[in-house]
Amino acid sequence: METFDLVILGGGPAGYNAAEKAGAAGLKTAVIEKRALGGVCLNEGCIPSKSLLYSAKVYDYAKHASSYGVTVTGASIDQKFVINRKNGVVKTLVSGIGMKMKKCGVKVYSCEGFINAKTPDGFEIKAGEEVVFAKQILIATGSVPVIPPIPGLREGVDSGFVMTNREILDLESIPKKLVVIGGGVIGLEMASYYNSVGSEVTVVEMLDHIAGPTDREISSILQNNYAAKGIKFELGCKVTAVEDGRVRYEKDGKDTFAEADKVLCSIGRRAQTADIGLENINVYTERGAIKTDEQMKTNIAGVYAAGDVNGVSMLAHTAYREGEVAVNNILGKKDRMRYNAIPSVIYTNPEVGAVGETEESAKQKNLDVEIVKLTLNYSGRYVAENDKGDGILKMIVDKKYRRILGVHMIGSYASEIIYGAAMMIETEATIDDLKEVVFPHPTVCEVIREALFEVK
Ligand code: NAI
Repeated sequence: METFDLVILGGGPAGYNAAEKAGAAGLKTAVIEKRALGGVCLNEGCIPSKSLLYSAKVYDYAKHASSYGVTVTGASIDQKFVINRKNGVVKTLVSGIGMKMKKCGVKVYSCEGFINAKTPDGFEIKAGEEVVFAKQILIATGSVPVIPPIPGLREGVDSGFVMTNREILDLESIPKKLVVIGGGVIGLEMASYYNSVGSEVTVVEMLDHIAGPTDREISSILQNNYAAKGIKFELGCKVTAVEDGRVRYEKDGKDTFAEADKVLCSIGRRAQTADIGLENINVYTERGAIKTDEQMKTNIAGVYAAGDVNGVSMLAHTAYREGEVAVNNILGKKDRMRYNAIPSVIYTNPEVGAVGETEESAKQKNLDVEIVKLTLNYSGRYVAENDKGDGILKMIVDKKYRRILGVHMIGSYASEIIYGAAMMIETEATIDDLKEVVFPHPTVCEVIREALFEVK
């Protein structure tokens, strides 16, 4: 039986990044992945959706080129080409991860992994037909889409009428009418793509606002933008059934219907903890997710969990960091996970970038904060490119310590700018320290600098 210092279940962002770091640090490491390396992020999530959204952006630019003095005639979208291009992007990146694993001496098992038993000095793990021995384990099995028991939903998924994040990224023809159940991140990104390429899109959302925990002012700007582009938002509406060619939902107490050629079910994801043998070693789970501490340790010594499977923050970049924290602790290095400066992005057009406390969460926690709000039109570059757009930046500042607690943006480049705000929060720099930082000009990120000077 081959023995490893560390066996990782799952080769997504948490798993492959942890494997790379562990292998590079000299631990004899194995990753067991039943599908493709890269997990949901690379194969059916972050990366393929960004590839599609970029095609939509280019198409949008072509459609609106005349506003910038450019004549484009006959712009059209070739959906098959878009999907093929996306497949090429995914293939390149997946093979890159395979190469990284080789470079770091990590053994990859392309099969299902299952924890058989705990032994006095480690764990016995099934890797397909083989059995291997692990001194320590990192569980990084990710998450799966939630398919609630709404009548007709499961049958719709089986027949192909209802799609999840997986199938919608492979759709080779553009549906005339697309109904999106759930106005969260996946729903909005896909609604954005299909709106750009010509589908009639209806988003049915249970809450009275889209984009879940996003700052309310920002989510309403986003909603207005998309309503103007033709997306129909049915808010405060709970889906009650999926029927032949339509979705039924409750609106003001009445049954209402939205016709659909295709439906996207994007109402959240749940940790993937089934069928991996957790019960054989008594790993503790809470509401279906593995409970971890700030060092990513589970209740069982030698067993760590990182990424979506612990249900804390279902984002690829959180997963990377959690994987690193786990490996550092396995190596005996001091490290702990912090969740207060994790950026989040919605890759719509305009895009949303956010990190830390929102105005709403600060109020809920009774934090003594000052809120600075600026239009992105403070940026010369923003005006030059957007002709008076409606983008804004909001900064939430702790009054007593004069430190940033949150930054929220909607507008161009927000996705690329937000890491700077995350760094300001993570390093706990004061407003006065940050005022000395020189920002490049002209850029949209300069609005952050403007906001620093607005703090009383
Ligand atoms: P989500 O949790 O973001 O949104 C689900 C939405 O569905 C919620 O607004 C909820 O109120 C609504 N909903 C639930 N049941 C409903 C019903 N019966 N009828 C109508 N609405 C209902 O989940 P989503 O969009 O599926 O994304 C899953 C995960 O993937 C998230 O945790 C997200 O963080 C991650 N993700 C992140 C991305 C990014 O960072 N750009 C992109 C895509 C996914």
